[in-house]
Amino acid sequence: MNLALISDFVTAVEDALRAALDAIPMDSSGFGTMVRYPFGLVDEQGAPFSGQAGKRIRPALVLLCADATGCDWRPAVPAAAAVELLHNFSLVHDDVQDDSPLRHGRPTVWRIWGVANAINVGDALFALSLHVLQDLRGVGVAPDIVTTANRLFTGTALKLTRGQHLDMRFETVTDVSVEAYLEMIAGKTAALLGVCGQLGALIAAGDAVRAEHFGEYALNIGMAFQIRDDILGIWGDEAITGKSASSDIVAHKKSLPVLHGLPLNDELRALYARPALSPSDVARVVQLLGEVGAQEYAVQIEREYTEKAMHALDQAAPTAEGREKLLALTTALFARSS
Ligand code: IPE
Ligand code: IPE
Ligand code: MG
Ligand code: MG
Repeated sequence: MNLALISDFVTAVEDALRAALDAIPMDSSGFGTMVRYPFGLVDEQGAPFSGQAGKRIRPALVLLCADATGCDWRPAVPAAAAVELLHNFSLVHDDVQDDSPLRHGRPTVWRIWGVANAINVGDALFALSLHVLQDLRGVGVAPDIVTTANRLFTGTALKLTRGQHLDMRFETVTDVSVEAYLEMIAGKTAALLGVCGQLGALIAAGDAVRAEHFGEYALNIGMAFQIRDDILGIWGDEAITGKSASSDIVAHKKSLPVLHGLPLNDELRALYARPALSPSDVARVVQLLGEVGAQEYAVQIEREYTEKAMHALDQAAPTAEGREKLLALTTALFARSS
């Protein structure tokens, strides 16, 4: 996904990310390479990497929501860098947790440097995210807003780890309800996207109530975003997503299409109950999910959250231009292919 409308913001974010990562030097230890690799800044040898790794949706949401308040978005840049660092911490650990070998079409951190290093890289990115958030003080953001931003940020990290716990736990639970699934994705994914909207608006405009509406918009975007990720985890094109299209099923993930299909088809339930799924089992699961309309079902729920998001955005009273940009982002994310 390449959106012209967020290019100004992305440039600011890339500069802030690189500056933040300067805290971890590129030295002969190799650690500097490991922490830059997930962002696509270097290849696994530490040489500059020119490919794309990561859509930068979260920082874009921070700055688009900041801008849509009608105030200056620039003071929100440290928060934008912080959310992308937090996101990448979660991805590096998620790939260990999900046993995923591929991300952005490249081997994952644990695949290259081992699980112990992946844990350590994630820890460093988490610490760095908190570190960068403190830069809000240096760009003139009021102390009480910085304090609130810190609480929102760390509270989000707690929600995210709880969501990850539920996601992993559900791998071995057979009767996961759609309600429990929605709670799980609200934690693992939507909480972070939600706080992006809230932080951006709060830092730019200083109005807590309005910021909550922007947060509600972004939270619903986050729900739709994860549902689309679930769809891509089954029917996505690996060459476009850069991620495996079988590892969710192999890991017995209770993604939304699967939850829809399980009660509708005995063979599907029997296959999903197998401790290990072979490549032909996976192919059969995908076929059965298709036959019971699991993709259409998930797209419908994705659509509902997208509509909810736009409704919440109207409550936030964005500027006309800001609304237009957020609508373009929302439209681009709906039914995305990467
Ligand atoms: C992947 O997020 C993890 C989810 C929450 C679905 P993204 O799809 O935003 O990942 P990158 O940053 O673009 O790789
Ligand atoms: C997304 O997890 C949430 C986090 C990484 C915290 P997933 O496991 O669903 O995302 P992908 O598909 O690996 O990117
Ligand atoms: Mg996961
Ligand atoms: Mg994963």
